[in-house]
Amino acid sequence: MSSKQSSLNRIQIIRPDDWHLHVRDGASMKAVVPYTAKQCGRAIIMPNLTPPVTSTEQAKAYQQAILSASAQHPHFKPLMTLYLTDSMPPSEIEAALNSGIISAVKLYPAGATTNSDAGVTDIKKCYATLEMMQKLGLPLLVHGEVTHQDVDIFDREKQFIDQRMSGLINDFPELKVVFEHITTADAADFVNTSSNYVAATITAHHLLMNRNDMLVGGIKPHHYCLPVLKRETHRQALVKAAISGNQKFFMGTDSAPHSQQNKESACGCAGMFTAFAAIELYAEAFDAANALDKLEQFSSLNGPLFYGLEANSDKITLQREKWTVPDSFSLGNDDVVIPLRAGQTIHWKRVTEN
Ligand code: NCD
Ligand code: ZN
Repeated sequence: MSSKQSSLNRIQIIRPDDWHLHVRDGASMKAVVPYTAKQCGRAIIMPNLTPPVTSTEQAKAYQQAILSASAQHPHFKPLMTLYLTDSMPPSEIEAALNSGIISAVKLYPAGATTNSDAGVTDIKKCYATLEMMQKLGLPLLVHGEVTHQDVDIFDREKQFIDQRMSGLINDFPELKVVFEHITTADAADFVNTSSNYVAATITAHHLLMNRNDMLVGGIKPHHYCLPVLKRETHRQALVKAAISGNQKFFMGTDSAPHSQQNKESACGCAGMFTAFAAIELYAEAFDAANALDKLEQFSSLNGPLFYGLEANSDKITLQREKWTVPDSFSLGNDDVVIPLRAGQTIHWKRVTEN
């Protein structure tokens, strides 16, 4: 075996971070947090609980609970976010920053996705708060989809760019903005051509799958997420962005566990559970694009750079090895979550002594 081949069968990278993660609360949180804590140094924790995390006090309690659930993995640090509402005052941003535990604020357009009913109905109502965030350097994480009934679900991200994102960025040119879980060539172009204040996360599932994987040969509820999977040309554009080496693009799994019964339903919830094999799934996507050498930058360097943090100080090792994903994982309380690739193969494996 040539040395080139062997180096491609085993790679060592700086420990990654997950810049977009849902861990829920209660028993589900306890069940899912360790999967991320095992492999990531940090994770940006989404605030879309019921009720949503709208105050620093709530975020503190939530962080404590996550830290207890990840006590076996003391290297892991949950980075907390606040859920932006029409009525969040600028003073909450100051309190958030002074607390030292809030890393970002999340904007859900009202009605866009899971637990977004309390989200923003009109971005103009938040301008004083956004002004404060810009002044203090607190990033805004944006779920970039419009919610109008008359906009086709496959066009909602593009419409959001035209109707909302462009204006937002013009009005707040020095606000740090992460365009979350981008799914289209349009969003990748938008981020590429915006200033360095604008970055994006990309999920592993949007790098690996297109909408055929959800709809051809039978409807696949476990491949349904928001923003919904798009056509192949968009997937290719996302891969190109992820492997480009451009520091604006980084890892954010959007791992979003729902119970089997809430997914396999006449009105199934949106979200895929990928945290159990996050870096392995990204490794597959980068490998398929012959770009394993770009994985570390995307998974471990670009995110900290954007957030003004140091990269993690330790490393993890991945090797090319097939393994079969369990059919389900426990969510506690007799619930299970069906993971991405349930009963199927993943081609990369983390070497587990680290
Ligand atoms: C997320 C969830 O379930 O909380 N679902 C999803 O499909 N990604 C919410 C979100 O990020 O849109
Ligand atoms: Zn999400």
